[in-house]
Parts: sequence; structure tokens; C-alpha cells
Amino acid sequence: MISYTQVFHGTAFSSSSPKEVEILRDHLFCINANGMIEKVVGPEEDDYQTLLDTYRDTDKFHRLADGQYFLPGFVDLHVHAPQWAQSGTALDLPLYDWLNTYTFPLEAKFSDIDFAKDIYEEVVATLLANGTTTALYFATVHKEASLLLANICAKKGQRGLVGKVVMDDPEQNPDYYRDADAQTALADTEEFILAVKDLAKSVKQGVYPVVTPRFIPSCTDEALKGLGALAAKHDTYIQSHCSESDWAHTYVQDRFDKNDAFALHDFGLLRDKSVMAHCNFLHDDDADLFAKTGTAVSHCPISNAYFANSVLPVAHLHAKGVEIGLGSDISGGFSPSLFDNARQAVLSSRMLDDGVNPSLPAEKRGVRNSRITMNEAFYFATVGGGESLSLPIGRLAETYAWDVQIIDTALASAKLPIHNDKDDLYDIFQKIMYLARPENIREVWVQGEKVYSRAL
Ligand code: GUN
Ligand code: FE
Repeated sequence: MISYTQVFHGTAFSSSSPKEVEILRDHLFCINANGMIEKVVGPEEDDYQTLLDTYRDTDKFHRLADGQYFLPGFVDLHVHAPQWAQSGTALDLPLYDWLNTYTFPLEAKFSDIDFAKDIYEEVVATLLANGTTTALYFATVHKEASLLLANICAKKGQRGLVGKVVMDDPEQNPDYYRDADAQTALADTEEFILAVKDLAKSVKQGVYPVVTPRFIPSCTDEALKGLGALAAKHDTYIQSHCSESDWAHTYVQDRFDKNDAFALHDFGLLRDKSVMAHCNFLHDDDADLFAKTGTAVSHCPISNAYFANSVLPVAHLHAKGVEIGLGSDISGGFSPSLFDNARQAVLSSRMLDDGVNPSLPAEKRGVRNSRITMNEAFYFATVGGGESLSLPIGRLAETYAWDVQIIDTALASAKLPIHNDKDDLYDIFQKIMYLARPENIREVWVQGEKVYSRAL
């Protein structure tokens, strides 16, 4: 028999399609030395008993206790790591004023590497404790601090995709916080890409450089064009903000006489490895371009309630074939938890569907067919994120990475209302998705390594 590095035994929930959750009751998950799921075996299969007998009494065997379940680790497709320092505050202004009043002054402080280290250590640890095993990060304009963030992900065992932010337009950005000019921004970005690729050689779970124009309004044409070329040259990920708010969307229309999607495409910034945050104001032809180029949308439902002036028509975009994942958008979104964001994604979609102005008649109030289920939100937080990044993550299935969170529903301090004889496993899944808190996340594993465990 093949020898596995570890064997996990318990009940797992994993998306089998956007609308369906597969329940793997009492399954065995056999993990290889690379931290990948090599075999998944159910109780009715031939080798189940042999595997159990072989591994049960070894230190490679991990059996879940009663009331514990495996969920795939979450993929957060949009986090501003430096903004963790202001999470939960500064949510009183519209986007443009929020950036200039709170966010740029905060991000400017990341020129101080000691300050950066404190915040970055804390945000990576916090995301892991919230079940996020892969995160797509914006850092700041600073090359050194951005590289430090990649190193911290590497060391703490999180799969991190990290971008040094580019914002070079002197007309749009404050003097105290921007790239010196387009050439410097491009040279720093290329240096950063090479440094992260070098770091990646020794990181089991993967760490990746991301070409990161903050958004069109903060960049000159020269920088945008150069970044598209760098992404092609080094085959990197790309991230930015796209058609987020009335102001940001209109700014791009005024500058280019087209929407963000086509403008980004002209600069070579839409490709299979592109992830664009928000995208609330995508038109149908923008969405078609996303689907054609393989560009994914990072849906940030909490943040959208503050800054996007609208609810993302996520069901419509998904139906049009656009890849979708979920993002916390710390600190536009205040919560580091994708559980919270999945909940908000469902709530916002329901409000879009029904409409929100009670003075309108029911038939005029909402946008029909906009609602999504919690199953779909779970899919976006896991499989959708993995597919957006073209990485084998987000499912508890053979050939995928062992990225999991172990949820304890029976914890005395955070017990979920589960009464075993009355609840079927699908009810338990729903209760976890709606009610689990960070306390319920007992362990987190990335690529077969335990990266977090919560003391009782
Ligand atoms: N657009 C440009 N920068 C930002 C940012 O930091 N957060 C959000 N939500 N939108 C942006
Ligand atoms: Fe953002």
C-alpha cells in the first residue's frame, strides 16, 4: 500500500457545484508529502478498513472529535494588509475622502519597517485564525515592507499572493505617499517580483508576486502600460480595483471614454491571472470581456455597503460565466472573516433581489433573480477563489491541497444549536456557515501543515 504522510478521519463539507455542497461523512483524507490530498476514501469503499487499521494507532492519524467538522480553508481574494491597523474605524466618508483622509496617511507609515512588521504579523495571524488559508494582498507602495509581508506569509504558513502597490500619478496622489514616477514604480515592481519568486523557491505552500496598480485613478498611462508588460514578461498575477463606486467608475469614463474593464484590457491588465475587486458597475460587455479573458471578480460585500454605492449583481455576473471569489477588503470591509463576508453576500443579494425602498410597489422595488444561497457564498469563498487564482485549492478532493479549517460545534463557550439526533448534516453545515465564530475554528492547516491551533 502507498504510504501517506498523514491520514485525517472525519466528516467534511466541500462544494460539488455552485449550488450543491457535498457531505463526506466519516471519510479518510490521505495526504502526501507535498501536502496534497492523494486519496479520499468513504466507509463503503474496499480499502477503508485496511487504511483505518494501518494508520489508526500511528502518529500520522488525526481523528476528529464528536462535533468537529472539516471545511476547506477560505480564499480571501482582496485584503489590504496595512489597513488592518484601522479596521473597524474610519467608515464615515465616501471612497475618495476615505482614501485621502484616513487610508493614504496610514499606508504612508509603512515606510517604517518596524511598524510594518507589527501590523503584518498580526494581520496574517488573524486571517489564519479566521480560517483564511490563502490571501491575495495589497501591501503599500514600499518595496521593502511589501517583501516583508511576503516573508511573513511564508513563515506563518499562509499561501500569500502579495502586491507592491503602484500609485504614481502626482496629480492624483499626495506627495507624501506615492511612487516617485512611473519608471521608479516599474523598476521597484520588477525588483519585487524577482525577490518574491526567489523567496517562493523555499516555500511549501507557495508565495506569489502580484502586479498591483491600485486603481486606474492613481496611475499614469505609462505605469499602467508598463505593469501590463511586466505581468506578461514574468507571468504574474494582477490585481486592482475596478468600477467600484460612482466616483471611481465615472473618473475612468471621463479619462478614457470607456469603462474600467476595457481600459484595463488596453493596458494588458486583464488576463487569466487577473483578479479585480468590487466591479459593481460592470456592464454586460465588460462582464463578457472578463469571462473571455479569464479575469475574476473579487466580491467584497461588507466593503460595498460602505464604498460601492450599490450591491454587486453577483448572481448575474456568475450566470454570465465570470469567475467569482469573496474578499474581505480589509479595511473597507471591517471584518477579517470570510464567514462574515459570506453572510453579508447572501444578505446583500436578498436586498438587491427584493429591493430596499418600501415606498415603491413590490414589482418595482428590486432586481429579480439576484439572490444567492449560502451554498453559493460558500462556493465563492472556497472553490471560486481557488479557480480565480487557478490553484488547486478550495475543495476537499483528490489532487487538491490539504487546506482546511477544523470547526468545533460543541465548544462550551461557543456551542452551536446542534442536537445530534434532530439535525441532519446539511443543517449542521448551514449552522456552521451562519453561526460559527473564530472560537469555533480549532485548527487550520495549509498544504498539509498545521499553521494554527486554538487553545481551549
Ligand atoms: N480604491 C482604491 N484604493 C482602494 C482601497 O484601498 N480600498 C477600496 N475599497 N477601494 C479602493
Ligand atoms: Fe480594496
